[in-house]
Amino acid sequence: MQSHSALSTQHSALKRLGVLVSGRGSNLQALLEACADGALAGLADVALVISNHPGVAALARATQAGVPTLTIVREGYANKQAQHQAIAAALHESGIDLVVTAGFDRIIDPTVLRELAIPVMNIHPSLLPAFGGGLHAVADALAYGVKLTGCSVHFITADDAVDSGPIIAQSAVPVRDDDDEAALAARVLAEEHSLLVKAVTWWCAGQIQVEGRRVMVRI
Ligand code: GRF
Repeated sequence: MQSHSALSTQHSALKRLGVLVSGRGSNLQALLEACADGALAGLADVALVISNHPGVAALARATQAGVPTLTIVREGYANKQAQHQAIAAALHESGIDLVVTAGFDRIIDPTVLRELAIPVMNIHPSLLPAFGGGLHAVADALAYGVKLTGCSVHFITADDAVDSGPIIAQSAVPVRDDDDEAALAARVLAEEHSLLVKAVTWWCAGQIQVEGRRVMVRI
């Protein structure tokens, strides 16, 4: 996926979603439910779930929903790039239209990303560009003392730095004085689930227009 303008969509047939996961899979669950009988019903199907760790809960959620899964671990390949090439090959083989990284705990190899002609969307638990680039965004926001945090759905491209691709949607979550990381993370996560479904729905319905860094949604 090279230019930002290529991230725009046209409405067409049922979109095939490929979801990359590493753990719990609650965002995957939100997508599965939206495809079954929510906003994505008739617009998209989760066609493939790929995990880079064996035995994680996300894989069980996919299997429970009847979605094919693959586990492609780093140890099976000479290096991370070869592992990510295998992931890209599986996505292509499955005819995936949109990749969603939902709790995927590795940065996609830039060479693989550059060659992957499929848009990639990510969900991140902060209001980007604040607290990007790591796996501890909620803890970092709490430690920094911000009064407002939240979540962001953005495109991942080879041309943008980590967590810096064009932002599709954001949702704000106020920080409470008595919050600890678990309490704040739970409220952010609840927002993530609806925001991710909303952004994927827009894309699948052909409502997203990308101009430079700006993502416009035609409702
Ligand atoms: C979410 O907070 C997501 O934003 C972050 O990792 C977490 C994954 O949660 N990238 P889950 O696996 O979807 O439950």
